[in-house]
Amino acid sequence: MRTPHPIPYQGSKRNLAPKILSFIPSDIQTLFEPFAGSAAVSIAAALRKKSKLFHLNDINKPLMDLWELIIKKPEVIVKQYAKLWHDQKGNEREFYDRVREKFNKTRRPDFLLYLLARCVKAAIRYNFDGEFNQSPDNRRLGRHPSLMKQDILAASYLLKNRSTLTCQDYREVLSRAKKHDLIYMDPPYQGTFASGGFRYFKDLEFETFVSSLYDLTSRDIPFILSYDGRTEDKTFGKPLPQDLGLKKIEIKAGRSSQATLLGRNHFTYESLYLSKALIVKLRIDSKEITDHKSIQQTEMFSSY
Ligand SMILES: C[S@@+](CC[C@H](N)C(=O)[O-])C[C@H]1O[C@@H](n2cnc3c(N)ncnc32)[C@H](O)[C@@H]1O
Repeated sequence: MRTPHPIPYQGSKRNLAPKILSFIPSDIQTLFEPFAGSAAVSIAAALRKKSKLFHLNDINKPLMDLWELIIKKPEVIVKQYAKLWHDQKGNEREFYDRVREKFNKTRRPDFLLYLLARCVKAAIRYNFDGEFNQSPDNRRLGRHPSLMKQDILAASYLLKNRSTLTCQDYREVLSRAKKHDLIYMDPPYQGTFASGGFRYFKDLEFETFVSSLYDLTSRDIPFILSYDGRTEDKTFGKPLPQDLGLKKIEIKAGRSSQATLLGRNHFTYESLYLSKALIVKLRIDSKEITDHKSIQQTEMFSSY
């Protein structure tokens, strides 16, 4: 089965997922994704049978309502998306504006899926009043309903009956994890590649986030964190405290889209941080982790 990716989402880890999966032990009970977004890592892990159970969480309520439909009632969302997609024909621009207006009143998940499929860079943006205000990408109509159907049905097949879905602050979810679980975190930190300077639903407080990492470390919970990144000459993201004992791995993520626009040929690198408890579980030492640096070459910026 091809790895499905039903929700187009800027910052999705779809292309880095195989690399991230290589650090997930084979005997975990539940894979937690407290910043799920399009849940690219959970879907890839489910396909490769890396975890028995999954916990998807995101603070964005319409997004989690969409996951609820995709996983539990796929045929409903398949129909709703197909209707919106066909109804837009011949009047695409105004139709998009009307759906966006209706989404802002109702927060309906099918409207969100249509908007993400049609909007610029599949990027969720909200104004100060919390209204979705991203513009449409007028060059495309959004993924064809037949392709969307395949991805929705496949994701539902992989995650149904073994996923817990919540819409909470990430800290509530972290507190549920046990030693035999694994947490994959991809927080929306401004200035990192994950958020790329674009606004997600909410930005995180650095200090609060770091104290959650200390808490997980003291409870021996294995985790993987996607955190900062760099181009050849610029690093993004505030450094994490050394005494957390995390192991950093850099992944060559592709060419920087901004550098390409400026006619430069810069590569970008994304970082993964592995927790102490995970290192012990994987029984790998720092030397092997350094060697991992040379494995990859995935294109990330075309990933939505
Ligand atoms: C970088 S994206 C995750 C992308 C994801 N890895 C994927 O493959 O699509 C970060 C996500 O964190 C969510 N988020 C922001 N603040 C949060 C919070 N306090 N608790 C939980 N989720 C939050 C955002 O809504 C966004 O979907």
